[in-house]
Amino acid sequence: MPAPQTIDLLIHGSSEVVTPLGQAALTGAELGGVAVTRDGALAVDGGRILEVGGSADLQERYTARTSIDAQGGTVLPGLVDAHTHPVFMGTREEEFELRAAGKTYVEISAAGGGIASSLEGVRTSSEEVLLRSLLERARRFLALGTTTVEAKTGYGLTLEDELKGLRVIQRASAEQPVDFVATCLAAHAYPPEYADRREDFHTLIVEEIWPAVVAQGIARYADIFTEEHVFDLDSSRRIMISAREAGLDLRMHADQLTPLGGAQLAAELGARSADHLEHISPVGIEALAGAGVVATLSPLVPLFLRESAEAPGRALVAGGVPVALSTDFNPGSCYCMSMFEVLSWASLRYGFSAAEALSAATLNAAASLDLAHEIGSIEAGKRADVLITDLPNHVHLTYELGRSPVTAVVKDGQLVWRSQDAGT
Ligand code: NIG
Ligand code: FE
Repeated sequence: MPAPQTIDLLIHGSSEVVTPLGQAALTGAELGGVAVTRDGALAVDGGRILEVGGSADLQERYTARTSIDAQGGTVLPGLVDAHTHPVFMGTREEEFELRAAGKTYVEISAAGGGIASSLEGVRTSSEEVLLRSLLERARRFLALGTTTVEAKTGYGLTLEDELKGLRVIQRASAEQPVDFVATCLAAHAYPPEYADRREDFHTLIVEEIWPAVVAQGIARYADIFTEEHVFDLDSSRRIMISAREAGLDLRMHADQLTPLGGAQLAAELGARSADHLEHISPVGIEALAGAGVVATLSPLVPLFLRESAEAPGRALVAGGVPVALSTDFNPGSCYCMSMFEVLSWASLRYGFSAAEALSAATLNAAASLDLAHEIGSIEAGKRADVLITDLPNHVHLTYELGRSPVTAVVKDGQLVWRSQDAGT
């Protein structure tokens, strides 16, 4: 028997290590095909996963500088939230009350609420103030088991304020463990000063914002809110083609509130992700599948907006579309940062099994961010982004609502968060 190998970290004593496998999004029947290692352990060195196996076996073969006993809980990949808008100041709880009283999101927007009402907070706040707020949110994402977050701007809507928001995202990503992947959502809404000259706002985005974002190298993606009351299909096509030509990859808010055909446009443009999709048509589903566009769904949003239409999660999976999950955390349509809540609602609303929801919230979400070769699963070679939970098995992932089961978070091989009542 060879001498044990010394490594940085050994996580052992789990009931299950459960993970999707691979370096690409899972589709169809494969979505639910997670690997479950009972009494599982994993060896970590140099920030990466070395091996996954049985606890007794790995404890015999490795000596670790740090050991974590999962105490019979379930071990999962770090969760990946593929759609958020976390750079904002101030909240909009009065809109939540208005919807409770029967007003719709579009009615509230038309009356001066909505996205426009969040502009002042970002425009009048300094970069430092916005950074402090995002760092605080990052701590909460981490405690909820989310280790990578796609983060959009979209509450600045001037050249300076969009760039400020992107700098905040980059700085926040560098200053703490959660990785933020930046998306410029300059085409989120028409700011009031452009209400009567929409073409001029298009020109600002196309001629100034996209080129500056690319020149400064501070965002990977461009996004747009393609919707009847915001950017119509023709404007969206023009704005997104210019983003692509400038060198940005594309994500789109598509078919969220009305069946406009945003999904078909996302497919036509080769977008990385088409998001929301509560009103996608069968033709749209076929188009996304054909173009390999990830459908990033946010099941909490219709709930939060009191909208009755749900994204057809099951039909998207059956149609061969890679499906990812997200909170859509933002002050207007989802003030919730918990991916565990999203997992439960994906099961309740779309009929996803726990395994399907997990794959959508890890590997497929990573794929939507072009990161599936690095994160999104627990397997040799990937970055060691790992959660330890107190769940007895992975079906509890969706079964239990309203509580975070996370007891410890490992990011890039480092223990970066531990719940106060967790043992050793
Ligand atoms: O994803 N759809 C557009 N954007 C957000 C809402 C933003 C807001 O209301 O502030 C969303 O739902
Ligand atoms: Fe959104």
